[in-house]
Amino acid sequence: MSDWLSPDVIASAPGRVNLIGEHIDYSQGFVLPFAITYRTTAQLRRRDDQRIRIRSKQRMDEVVSTSIAELNPGSQGGWELYVLGVIWSLGISEGVDIEIDGDVPLGAGLSSSAALECAVALGLNELFSLGLSRKELALLSQKAENIYVGVPCGIMDQSVSLMAESGSALLLDCRDLSTTLVPFDLGASGLELLIIDTRAHHALVDGEYAKRRQACESASSKLSISSLRDIELPTLIAAREKLSEEEFKRAHHAVSEMARTLEAVAVLRQKDFAALGELITQSHVSLRDDYEISCPELNCAVDVALAHGALGARMIGGGFGGSAIALVHQNQIEMVKGEIAESFKSNSFAEPRFFTSLPSAGAEITKKLVR
Ligand code: GLA
Repeated sequence: MSDWLSPDVIASAPGRVNLIGEHIDYSQGFVLPFAITYRTTAQLRRRDDQRIRIRSKQRMDEVVSTSIAELNPGSQGGWELYVLGVIWSLGISEGVDIEIDGDVPLGAGLSSSAALECAVALGLNELFSLGLSRKELALLSQKAENIYVGVPCGIMDQSVSLMAESGSALLLDCRDLSTTLVPFDLGASGLELLIIDTRAHHALVDGEYAKRRQACESASSKLSISSLRDIELPTLIAAREKLSEEEFKRAHHAVSEMARTLEAVAVLRQKDFAALGELITQSHVSLRDDYEISCPELNCAVDVALAHGALGARMIGGGFGGSAIALVHQNQIEMVKGEIAESFKSNSFAEPRFFTSLPSAGAEITKKLVR
């Protein structure tokens, strides 16, 4: 096993927090995520046969051993499916050993799966000199998750993991994957972004996510538009009777969230954090009431943060658990954490975990093959 110790390439990729623009990537909207400091690392080594071996530093005794010929979209498995999916979607035809390590909190809705996919994708791109762009790698990582793993995610998480830059949030236009960096410096204004992992179940694979996507798609088709990107709020409201009540609510979230995201970029450029906080809270209300993907733990974290001075707070990611964010004055962080922990306890929820993160760099190669 000593050959695991000398990789040809080491690549790493971060998880993400989405500031605003939730559940609109698959409606071709705008999203505003940033990369967090927590990262996944992939160490890769070429083999001279067609075998694939995968292991994780967190579970050194388990080695997944398979081969290129055995790659099969839709097969059963655990976390290694994300790695195998990327090997498959990148069309790799030679064997490889991959060792994974990292500190992206698992199951917290901070995109540990995209971090894993993107570290492997960037590493394979380097190892096999594929010459793929970051945008192409994001699309192929998404393909791995959609088809190989079977999770119908959008393109936000992979894009930010590959294209983010430190100190900025990334405005991503999910229609053409063009990006604009938006400087995001809370510290200079005495603020911090608190990440609250509710430890509640994340139900992305359970069908609710797919149902939301379908509702947006059927609303678009009834409105004769290619996606909800193509309609403004007043027009949607005027066309309400063409849609079922459920389709209207889902579309109302998507269309209003796209407008909020662009407004958030404008207020962020003016460093108007009070206005940013309001938009973040409006996003939560829309996700809770129109999109119906929040849960008691997320609502509790948001409500308690707002009641104790946060400028804004909302659930992030797929919904039904995972994390919330709160924009908090630095000198109130400990008090807000304490209040949330207390409230979780009195509601008999699991004990929450707290994180914080500056906007960090996207995926990087830290060791290259010397030819
Ligand atoms: C998950 C998906 C993303 C996006 C978010 C919701 O993280 O992977 O593509 O749809 O949910 O904004």
